[in-house]
Amino acid sequence: MKTFYIETYGCQMNFYDSQVIDDVLQGMGLRKVASAEMSDLILINTCSVRDNAEQRVRGRINQLWGERVARRQEGMIGLLGCMAQRLGESLLQEKHSRLDFVVGTDQYQRLPEIIDLALQKKPSLYFTDFDHVVTYEARPKQMPPGGSHYLAVMHGCDKFCSYCIVPFTRGRERSKPMEIILREARSISEAGGFEITLLGQTISSYQHGGDDFVSLLRNVSCIDGIKRIRFMTSYPTDLNEQVFDAIADLPKVENRIHLPVQSGSDRVLRKMNRHYDLAQYEAILLAGRERIDGLQFSTDLIVGFPGEQEDDFQATLQLMERQKFVSSFLFKYSPREGTLACRSEDDVPESVKSERLARLMELQEATTVRLLQAQVGEELEILLDEESKKAKNQLRGRTRNNMRVIVDPKKGTAIGDFAVARITGFKGGTLTGELL
Ligand code: 5AD
Ligand code: SF4
Repeated sequence: MKTFYIETYGCQMNFYDSQVIDDVLQGMGLRKVASAEMSDLILINTCSVRDNAEQRVRGRINQLWGERVARRQEGMIGLLGCMAQRLGESLLQEKHSRLDFVVGTDQYQRLPEIIDLALQKKPSLYFTDFDHVVTYEARPKQMPPGGSHYLAVMHGCDKFCSYCIVPFTRGRERSKPMEIILREARSISEAGGFEITLLGQTISSYQHGGDDFVSLLRNVSCIDGIKRIRFMTSYPTDLNEQVFDAIADLPKVENRIHLPVQSGSDRVLRKMNRHYDLAQYEAILLAGRERIDGLQFSTDLIVGFPGEQEDDFQATLQLMERQKFVSSFLFKYSPREGTLACRSEDDVPESVKSERLARLMELQEATTVRLLQAQVGEELEILLDEESKKAKNQLRGRTRNNMRVIVDPKKGTAIGDFAVARITGFKGGTLTGELL
């Protein structure tokens, strides 16, 4: 066992965790490789939030296993992440299980010992105990290249929205000690990183010792070399005037907030166990907009929650029309075993879910186009953060409220620099501009 390969699905938290896993495995002398073909050990870090995420991984496991058999190659496959946590031992007992071991979200530090046991061909290797205190730390040598990095500041979730599996796959909410966060942020900066995305399932409820979300933003802002700070995901009722004032006050902190609303209907919100109604949610958006210049909100929405009627859905459409989210992540409700909502019948037909989803997408696209259109001719400050993925020799920058702008480089400007761009147009969801 010399090499490993890791494939990551799902949210940013999983990508962060995969960095931690890289570190643990490299610490035991394994070398990371870029393809399954070259690796002795294949790891898959998984997501359980919707059923299609799990089905995709199941297909992928079979494919990887089949390819390995065809190559007559020895090796192991280990499953990690939310699906491992949720299904545990049952994954190993399935008839055609291709897995050698299963490791849940709180057990990554034990991977060396687990891999050792797997090498000894011990049966039933599943490790899914929760450890209600563990938090992880990613070290700079494992950081992927580039200026932007994730930094998890919390793990778990205590909100128990009725549709959501996360409280069951990630356990109780816990915040990482401030000194560890700052150590990590400093090492990101020392390794050449200039943008940090702070991660937590409900990040605005960060609390450790005397520290809260506001002191977190203030402290990370003090780190030299870090030029921009993003954070996600916020829970609506955790945002208050102090948080908005801090964002307004701290120029490094992005003025875009991802604030999932999930539905525009009070009846549905109640059944989702979201602890606010529509009026409260919109009052929070208003308070933010009053305090922070140029603030943009993005959101998440679920269509087809059990019992969702046409008028509930209309309320969601009207909310989107009123609030003009800069972007939204739109999902069809997917029942998750063990959640409260799963006890109700999944009674909105698939065809209705698809149709509602399409209507939301259409409205979002129209809104996004209008917001982009309004930027044409403006001069915007951007932080150049990477080479354009699509256009050769061009750079991508992002405004403080996270609008992407593609520009031609100019002499003397480099990735990691601030620059001012005059916006000339847009393509897809991205602005185009010229540097001044
Ligand atoms: N079905 C559909 N979407 C879901 N989400 C969470 N659970 C479910 C589910 N069971 C969505 C929510 C959440 C986002 C990360 O995924 O909108 O904010
Ligand atoms: Fe899931 Fe709700 Fe927690 Fe978000 S806040 S992770 S939707 S339970």
